[in-house]
Amino acid sequence: MEKFLIEGGHPLNGKIKASGAKNAALPIIAASIMGEGKTILHNIPSLKDTETMLKILTFLGAKVKFFNNTVEIEPSGIKRFTAPYEYVSTMRASICLLGPMLAKYGKAKFSMPGGCVIGPRPIDLHLKGLKKLGVEIKNEEGYVIGKVKKLKGNRIFLGGNFGSSVLATANVMCAATLAEGETIIEFAACEPEIVDLARFLKKMGAKIYGEGSHILRIVGVRKLKGTEYTIIPDRIETGTYMLAGLITKGKIKIENCIPFHLMALMDRLEEAGIGVKYGNDYIEVEGKDKWKAVDIVTLPYPGFPTDLQAQMMAFLTLADGISVITEKVFPERFIHVGELNRLGANITLDGSKAIVKGVKNLLGAKVMASDLRASAALVLAGLAAEGETQISRIYHLDRGYEKFEEKLSKVGAKIKRVRE
Ligand code: EPZ
Repeated sequence: MEKFLIEGGHPLNGKIKASGAKNAALPIIAASIMGEGKTILHNIPSLKDTETMLKILTFLGAKVKFFNNTVEIEPSGIKRFTAPYEYVSTMRASICLLGPMLAKYGKAKFSMPGGCVIGPRPIDLHLKGLKKLGVEIKNEEGYVIGKVKKLKGNRIFLGGNFGSSVLATANVMCAATLAEGETIIEFAACEPEIVDLARFLKKMGAKIYGEGSHILRIVGVRKLKGTEYTIIPDRIETGTYMLAGLITKGKIKIENCIPFHLMALMDRLEEAGIGVKYGNDYIEVEGKDKWKAVDIVTLPYPGFPTDLQAQMMAFLTLADGISVITEKVFPERFIHVGELNRLGANITLDGSKAIVKGVKNLLGAKVMASDLRASAALVLAGLAAEGETQISRIYHLDRGYEKFEEKLSKVGAKIKRVRE
């Protein structure tokens, strides 16, 4: 196993290029199996999660090539319809293959995705939407088995107790593109990654209207064709680097990003007294010696993203005053609190709320990564802490951040990867 050694206290200064969005890449790679013929995807980040998704496609029989952020997928050789436990257990996002497989092949057998440290990960909305399209679903020995002769369009309300569901929307939208007739999805997810998926499907020949709103209308077509597409930049990676610049009181410009996707974060930073400059494809932040505590409530897009909650919490551990962070998407997503407190933060939990009392400084310590975004929060805290911070189990980070320590070192971070 590997760990990061971080020497804190060095302001980050310079430019960082955002990579392609992990959460657009995964559903779009999955959807590519629905096309007749080859699909070429650009700006695909080289991550453990994208590699896992491509391994699953290869296991199913597709021909896959992945070289300098371009993926080529030829799905015609697919002859297996089971995604085995060892893949699904390492990456629950593989569930977004369910809709495309049922649409193209009429059958799919998937191991139920386990829970994870951010909380239970139910798939009831995925199954509800697919059943509404005519899929027969059975649960056997921890596997979900789906079968359908011909998908039929329908009207589907896809909202759950926590609002919209990103990957349930992806699954149902994909399946609906090849269903007979029209499908209306109400309370669909509006995330930019879902908009990107819809645009990709339309380039393959799908008829989709309303992407980016809570109401999607899909008119089924007979077939989709392989295409060439470039995915959007990663807004969560961008927000993570913005907060790395700010927590170290440096000045960072993130290029190749889409500022419009980060309005909620920019709103909270402005509330904290931080000025944010942005243009068409860049965001620039300049750190200050002090910043104000602010309250955060995570919500589906365009609300404050749950995937930036841990990183924002790290930033607020050094704010002036008390911040209250309410997690409304994954109410248990606070695994990072204990480790941040080991670095000298003062955070207490009260159900789905975290009370963050600002402290003067953080002190380096040995901490353990546990979940992709929680690990990023520990790196940010380590960059600001006095002394050395050691972060073990950093394979969690490799799932979602391309060239993480290289990008940070290039702007002055003292961070290195060593064997445990
Ligand atoms: C996607 O997960 C992202 N993953 C997550 O990012 C992100 O945190 C999440 O959306 C919310 O934005 C990918 O896109 C690969 P949801 P997803 O279904 O689709 C409940 C990261 O760090 N729910 O939108 O699985 C669920 O429990 C990852 O990059 C149901 O109740 O999340 C949660 O409370 C972590 N029933 C809420 O909805 C369902 O059938 C939102 O979950 C499905 C979800």
